[in-house]
Amino acid sequence: MKQTILVTGGTGFIGSHTTVELIEAGYNVVIVDNLSNSKIEVLDGIEKITGVRPAFEQVDLRDKEATESVFRKYPAIEGIIHFAASKAVGESVQQPLMYYRNNVISLINLLELMPEYGVKGIIFSSSCTVYGQPKPEHLPVTESAPHQKATSPYGNTKEINEQIIYDYIHSGAGIKSIVLRYFNPIGAHPTALIGELPNGVPNNLIPYVTQTAMGIREQLTIFGNDYNTPDGTCIRDYIYVVDLAKAHVAAMARVLDKQTEPVEYFNIGTGSGNSTLEIVTTFEQATGVKVNWKYGPRREGDIEKIWGDCTHANTVLGWKADTPLADVLASAWKWQQKLREDGVM
Ligand code: UFG
Repeated sequence: MKQTILVTGGTGFIGSHTTVELIEAGYNVVIVDNLSNSKIEVLDGIEKITGVRPAFEQVDLRDKEATESVFRKYPAIEGIIHFAASKAVGESVQQPLMYYRNNVISLINLLELMPEYGVKGIIFSSSCTVYGQPKPEHLPVTESAPHQKATSPYGNTKEINEQIIYDYIHSGAGIKSIVLRYFNPIGAHPTALIGELPNGVPNNLIPYVTQTAMGIREQLTIFGNDYNTPDGTCIRDYIYVVDLAKAHVAAMARVLDKQTEPVEYFNIGTGSGNSTLEIVTTFEQATGVKVNWKYGPRREGDIEKIWGDCTHANTVLGWKADTPLADVLASAWKWQQKLREDGVM
């Protein structure tokens, strides 16, 4: 019997790639999304890739009754992967209550409903943002590195949600969780049938690079070249979204089918860092396309350098990110070209 998984935010960037990997691994998927930052057409892309159109419910998870109706309609749901959340750092500073309501209430509603509807496990999308800027002796950062005070309401919702999960499970709720702390997810499915849908001027590096390469943006600004790193630009652990999606499949199998601690934490990255400048030059080499860029001042709130020690995920989940960076960047470019072909941008 196929197991049924509820994927919240399943039409979003990471959610859609994870839905594809879940279907290909033999799961039934029910997607819940309020389409606040994604398009219904994403389902067409998922269907073209997998041959299966996942069940879809347009529901806002802040609405507990509407959320409950999903569990009533699909009583076979055994596990949840909870992606649905607002994720723009700057916007969260402008609209903190919107972020707390959306990101925290949604999780609480799901957790409350899980025992009632026999849902055993939840995979939570957390972020390396919980570590802040690790001390040099803590790089690469492991799961046991100290957490630092969040620099934005968005980051704080990740920290708060991790604590809510821990407290609820330790109250004897009878459910389990795996918390995945993502580093920087990038790229798109190799078919270019799904990818990251840009919404206005991108905040994140890769969409800015691909849009500049396409001529949609005039020039990329690399924020700061006086950091304490080999080339002076910031360092991140860029992980391919398809590799990241596969980590969720491994985590779901573990939380549902293995005897494990009630809450487990995994860093999900590649284990190594690349500078912003390296990303731009690798993109140019991988695609043969020049990117118009300049150095500009540092961006407020940026972390200088972080990359993950992902040994725990490698050994315990039996998962490893293994797609070469050049291929990942080429996939992002292929996706941008597809958006142009389709007249999206
Ligand atoms: N960058 C530029 N120019 C740009 C955009 C980004 O130089 O136009 C640089 C940034 O300064 C940073 C790097 O590229 O050094 C990566 O920036 P992103 O915005 O792509 O990613 P961040 O690491 O800043 O943010 C990510 C997630 C957030 C999360 C944060 C936690 O996107 O959701 O990690 O550290 F909160």
